[in-house]
Amino acid sequence: MIDFHSHFLPGIDDGSDSVATSMAMLDCWKAQGISTICATPHFYADHNTPERFLSRRDTAFEMLREEMALKEIPIPDIRLGAEVRFFDGISRFDGLSELCLEGTDLLLLEMPFRTWTSRMIDEVGVIAATTGLMPVAAHIERYLDQPRGLLKEFLKLNIFFQSNAEFFLEQGFSRKGLKMLKKGVITFLGSDAHNMGHRPVNLGPALEVISRSLGDRFITELEQRQYDILDQFRTDDFF
Ligand SMILES: [Fe+2]
Repeated sequence: MIDFHSHFLPGIDDGSDSVATSMAMLDCWKAQGISTICATPHFYADHNTPERFLSRRDTAFEMLREEMALKEIPIPDIRLGAEVRFFDGISRFDGLSELCLEGTDLLLLEMPFRTWTSRMIDEVGVIAATTGLMPVAAHIERYLDQPRGLLKEFLKLNIFFQSNAEFFLEQGFSRKGLKMLKKGVITFLGSDAHNMGHRPVNLGPALEVISRSLGDRFITELEQRQYDILDQFRTDDFF
């Protein structure tokens, strides 16, 4: 299974604060049987540039790699990406493709938490329709209280939706998550893990809930679909 959303690279955002924390988080993924981990530090266009972000991300990853080499720990399947916060004009932003999950055209996009407007939704549609990139809307469960009409419009966009593990772990919330997963609204799952404390690596426990309700076969098929999408949106196929 792929953890599509996490903040475990050391010292780059409000996620892991040290190499030791990052290493402990990686141990959790291993224990939970998660084979592919996407590192998606926050990217905010108003106080970062893609160049600076990518250079800081590389440095953080290199620190981690050195530590793993030192301890002779095999490096797991880590894919570098970003969680890009939506902003007005994002569809015309030059550096967008560099912020996609490496080797793909998949862009983890964080929508604003303030009340949406139809212009915002239109702009996400424009990204999908004109840039050649495919948005994956992060933690969709956090937006379920957006105005109903706008949420419906958003869910109808031809993009992918990711939900956090906690959607399946919080009481009274889980049933809705399972329904959205079963209907195919949610394609990607993520822990959105930030640390070893209150925002932990928790995709494993969520998969147990999903498995109990929808069965192991559902999970295997979902996993296959995720890897197929990664393959479908690979950037190095034809060019
Ligand atoms: Fe996040």
